Amino acid sequence: MQIITKKQELQQVVEACKKNHQTIGFVPTMGALHEGHASLVRRAVQENDVCFVSVFVNPTQFNNKEDLAKYPRNIERDAALLSSIGANYVFAPTPEEMYSAEEMNNTFSFDFAGLDQVMEGKMRPGHFNGVVQVVSRLFYLVQPDRAYFGEKDFQQLAIIHHMVERSELAGTFGNLQIIGCPIVREASGLALSSRNERLSETEKQTALGISKTLFASSKWAKEAGATVAEVQQRVIDAINAIDGLEMEYYEIVDQTTLLPTTTFNHAIGCVTVYCGPVRLIDNIKYE
Ligand code: PAF
Repeated sequence: MQIITKKQELQQVVEACKKNHQTIGFVPTMGALHEGHASLVRRAVQENDVCFVSVFVNPTQFNNKEDLAKYPRNIERDAALLSSIGANYVFAPTPEEMYSAEEMNNTFSFDFAGLDQVMEGKMRPGHFNGVVQVVSRLFYLVQPDRAYFGEKDFQQLAIIHHMVERSELAGTFGNLQIIGCPIVREASGLALSSRNERLSETEKQTALGISKTLFASSKWAKEAGATVAEVQQRVIDAINAIDGLEMEYYEIVDQTTLLPTTTFNHAIGCVTVYCGPVRLIDNIKYE
């Protein structure tokens, strides 16, 4: 496995792959890799001739400087994991290699067709501008045939789909296929996240209340006459009743438009909860 830190070197390697007619699978990450990322990389390795992974903590998608500073970083451990599961190239640039000073300081503008006005987008203004900025740049550089994203960040996945299929950037990435992959959970149910590293053992136990409530809500949704509004409120009340958890939002929305829905058909419930100082997200599909 080769670690690349410069864009120019990356482009040379990509060109060589294209010349050899090799298909490219790509997994963009911010490092602090766990089994969730590993499942994406394994799939990329299996379905393509070559697998590229980027490890870049993208400063432009953090609207909270403290969150950026505290984001866990461990490139040696990440590289060892990636090499053991068959990734071929890791792109790990510095922020200066990725962005000019102007790009770093100005908001990247993009037509989200409203997908950024709800949930994470509403709570973290500018977050998805940074995500689209970095992901579009990475796609230009890596020119993947398939790119893999986890469904835990469901709104991010919907926005990337929009970016590739329906936005002003549509058509610029060739026949790129965006592949959403299921959430990977601990046996306890806790959704894997790089942020879990910041939870104490007690907080981890407390955080289990999130997935437990979401799983229970799947049953509540099947109760005769249950409405979306009732299930939504029941989840909010159940999570807020747990000591140590503080709900930021819970919304049941349509899986494509991300707009509030009144039917469980094609619906997903998305939650963001603070467990102590750590902001955790999770979701459940109701179809
Ligand atoms: O999901 C993430 O880890 C990041 O948002 C991504 C897609 C790598 C862009 O920085």
